[in-house]
Amino acid sequence: MAVTIKSAREIDLMRESGRLLAIVHDELGKAICPGMSTLDIDKMGEKLIRSFGCVPNFLHYNGYPASICVSVNEEVVHGIPRADRILQEGDIVSLDAGLIYKGYHSDAARTYAVGKVSKEAADLITVTKQSFFEGIKMAKAGYHLYDISNAIAAYVTSYGYGIVKDLVGHGIGTKLHEAPQIPNFAQKRKGLRLQPGMTLAVEPMINMGTGDVVWLDDDWTVVTADGAYSAHYENTILITDGEPEILTLPS
Ligand code: MF3
Ligand code: CO
Repeated sequence: MAVTIKSAREIDLMRESGRLLAIVHDELGKAICPGMSTLDIDKMGEKLIRSFGCVPNFLHYNGYPASICVSVNEEVVHGIPRADRILQEGDIVSLDAGLIYKGYHSDAARTYAVGKVSKEAADLITVTKQSFFEGIKMAKAGYHLYDISNAIAAYVTSYGYGIVKDLVGHGIGTKLHEAPQIPNFAQKRKGLRLQPGMTLAVEPMINMGTGDVVWLDDDWTVVTADGAYSAHYENTILITDGEPEILTLPS
């Protein structure tokens, strides 16, 4: 599948989709606290998304049973919300959320500390977030796709963390997952040339230990193979003539 270039009209719709998702994340982030269940987070997120007249794009996607992916500690991504999974002080929790506004998808993820966490856990969250910003320094017209991958990888590797290779970022638009795939690990090739109007979900998934992951029996929850903590940070971005526009952060 070819990479789609969005028209001015589509870009406006993507912007609104992203703006609303940024609000969802901000509200969820404020709510996170010890004692909350991962299902509480899902219900709150779904309610907010629907309050905007939008649809949660993860719900029923390939059979995924919830609106928000809630992944705790060694869970990397796609954790399924549960009433009996209660957040505790010292946990880290990754929230991955997306929505559809007038047919246009947005997708973003954040990792939060629950109460006070270890310095090691806090550092992992900080470096994972910063790796996204290092990556998108290369997200400019005329650069190549894998410049983003290589920038993320160089930054993360300098801290000794493991990069998840089994899951990647992606193009996004009228579908949640469009071409191209966007690896977060070093690439030998250049990849496609970035052009204004491309919308991409850049999403480093970074482990404190090795990058190896396994799937739980639910066939969704991805966990680190060594049981070490993992963090995730994602935004939907727009390639422009200049600096990339981050669509899923508050403006
Ligand atoms: N944010 C995830 C991604 O980038 C989507 C979650 S997959 C779902 O691919 F099935 F849960 F929707
Ligand atoms: Co994504």
